[in-house]
Amino acid sequence: MSLKSVMASAPGKLMLFGEHAVVYGTACIVTAVDQRLSVKITKNGKDAFHLEAPDLGLSAYSKTISDLGKKNLPKSVRFIELLYKRFLEIYPQKEGIDVVTKSEFSSSFGFGSSSAVSVAFAYALARLYKIKFSKRELFDLCYQAVIDVQGVGSGFDLAAAIWGGTLYYVPPAKRVEKLSISRFPMVVGYTGVGADTPTLIRLVASLKGKKNKKVDEIFSAIESIVERAKGSMELGDWESVGLLMQENQKLLKKLQVSSVELDRLIRAAEGAGSWGAKLSGAGGGDCMIAVCSIGSKSKIIKAIEKVGGEVMDVGLGAEGVRIESS
Ligand code: MEV
Repeated sequence: MSLKSVMASAPGKLMLFGEHAVVYGTACIVTAVDQRLSVKITKNGKDAFHLEAPDLGLSAYSKTISDLGKKNLPKSVRFIELLYKRFLEIYPQKEGIDVVTKSEFSSSFGFGSSSAVSVAFAYALARLYKIKFSKRELFDLCYQAVIDVQGVGSGFDLAAAIWGGTLYYVPPAKRVEKLSISRFPMVVGYTGVGADTPTLIRLVASLKGKKNKKVDEIFSAIESIVERAKGSMELGDWESVGLLMQENQKLLKKLQVSSVELDRLIRAAEGAGSWGAKLSGAGGGDCMIAVCSIGSKSKIIKAIEKVGGEVMDVGLGAEGVRIESS
């Protein structure tokens, strides 16, 4: 029986270690969070692509199939539209689709709404048209859309959305290793300031252009932190993980990607007894993370809130992309 409608969901992500250096080929550690983004697609019998994405700030967006990827694309639909265009180039179809997205998290937190939406959409498409994709093939299709849209990116966020769990990741999905770790107490604080990843990647590229040797040394130091963090996390040695976060944060500051707000929240967490804290993601705003004992968690939450941060209640190591209904 041919399917008419499929809904899939994918998790958001939090970078734990290795941001920025990963863009230049070294490993990072990322975890999938238990806030998900879902995409429902329905065959519509028309030569049209319709999109309703209220959480991405868009409604009643419509295009003919031949116009996909042409004319100016609103930022929020670029990933889906270009992914759909590429998909149709490989697997042409006679009719278009209606797409509805729904998010459990705000796109402003930096949890990776564009990666989660791309992965959930591609997975739903594969199910709708009964195409068997391996995780790696799904990654390749989505990664191409990221490169089409932003030109840069390591794809770590796509890997988190596809594989789920906590991953040791070497770009672009050259190595994806699920870490077997126990649950650990972490506090996630949002600065209230949204950040634009491509802008921060360009900032680091420009610093590297001016001070290549120094930036390469920073990347090597980050690479070594990621390896040590992997070992400490697998052993459940969270105090050492905290110390490595402090070290990683110092290097991110040298890359000039931290911000006044991030520094304020990190200081507050460390002052309240966290083992270590750092920014998570591109920097410039978005979120920080702090690792701590269960006993000190509520004190750290209060300290972050006191200096203006918003504490996010997220579970880590969530399941990767899945079909919700078909
Ligand atoms: C952004 O969340 C993390 C970066 O390393 C970019 C990337 O890996 O694509 C800055």
